[in-house]
Amino acid sequence: MIEMKTRTEVDAVDAAGTVVHDILAAVREAAAPGVRTADLDRLAHRLMREAGVRPSFLGYHPRWAPMPYPGVLCVSVNDAVVHGIPGRTKLRAGDLLSVDCAVHLNGWCADAAFSMVVGAPADPGDLALVEATERSLAAGIAAAVPGARLGDVGHAIARVARGAGYGMLADHGGHGVGRSMHEEPHVPNEATAGRGLILRPGLVIAIEPMLIAGGTDAYRHDPDGWTLRTADGSRAAHAEHTIAITEDGPRILTTA
Ligand code: MF3
Ligand code: CO
Repeated sequence: MIEMKTRTEVDAVDAAGTVVHDILAAVREAAAPGVRTADLDRLAHRLMREAGVRPSFLGYHPRWAPMPYPGVLCVSVNDAVVHGIPGRTKLRAGDLLSVDCAVHLNGWCADAAFSMVVGAPADPGDLALVEATERSLAAGIAAAVPGARLGDVGHAIARVARGAGYGMLADHGGHGVGRSMHEEPHVPNEATAGRGLILRPGLVIAIEPMLIAGGTDAYRHDPDGWTLRTADGSRAAHAEHTIAITEDGPRILTTA
């Protein structure tokens, strides 16, 4: 069932989204050569405690996972696309870093992610991949207007991503967001324009393109059961916002 949100409920997701934005901004600042991915997780966890929010990832245990998720962030480096578990690995200059964060505030969830290159020099190919991922997210958001269809969102995302020659992580996409982090509907990153659910004010969704350099869509799981890596070792980037469809158009909730 798709749970539509009232204006007040959208504002509640927006409040959670502001915390997510602030945490991701702090993590971006802290990400530097020599920093362990677990250090970023510790920083985010401290900021969550200070903000009085609940980390939505910690202890999350979907059917397909071998263990509950052990972190408050997903930190995915280089060929890791998403769901990288924070650990002792030290970031190095030139690493392509993706960070995903979700929190619950007063029972409402918001979910967002970004990618960046750590330190310098940055590989121009990595910067182009990150930029294309952000552009595909922006195109997906711009398509999320009342009266459009869910397929228009995936069509817009894929047009940018495929148009630039990138792969898109198979079997993964965005999702409804609300009291739970993952709600209906599934939001495909590649779809047919004019098809699917009609978007109406009150629908809250996370849009999250995952782009892969080199053009493959294929992936494999790490032995940890969570980390998703590109099948051929190519680098990947991820960008995500939680948005609401409103009468006035898309409203980004995971922003300052
Ligand atoms: N933002 C991610 C998603 O929507 C959440 C990561 S899964 C978790 O799939 F286990 F870490 F929570
Ligand atoms: Co998400």
